[in-house]
Amino acid sequence: MNKWIEVVELYKIPVLGSRLIKTRDMDIAVFRASDDSVFAINDVCPHKGGPLSQGIVHGHTVTCPLHNWKIDLETGHALAPDHGCAHLFPTKVEDGKVYLQLATEEAAC
Ligand code: FES
Repeated sequence: MNKWIEVVELYKIPVLGSRLIKTRDMDIAVFRASDDSVFAINDVCPHKGGPLSQGIVHGHTVTCPLHNWKIDLETGHALAPDHGCAHLFPTKVEDGKVYLQLATEEAAC
């Protein structure tokens, strides 16, 4: 069973913004949509590695700041006509705290 890890308090993530969580192996962008949905995704754009955490959030999508690819935060996939996928991590919010699971095979691209 995968373990939930508390990473940040929800109020510390700006609405339509993100917080960067650094692990030993990677940087993870944790996004907060306008409806308070929270998504966690590897902070590497599937196009040329741009920092998705610095992108613009609209709906449940983030636009990469480098070349404007749009990444679906629910799936990690680039929206057509682009192709590619960023690794997505399961999230949950409990008592105002954001948790995510790092060891996820099913969430991989
Ligand atoms: S690196 Fe993200 S769109 Fe090019």
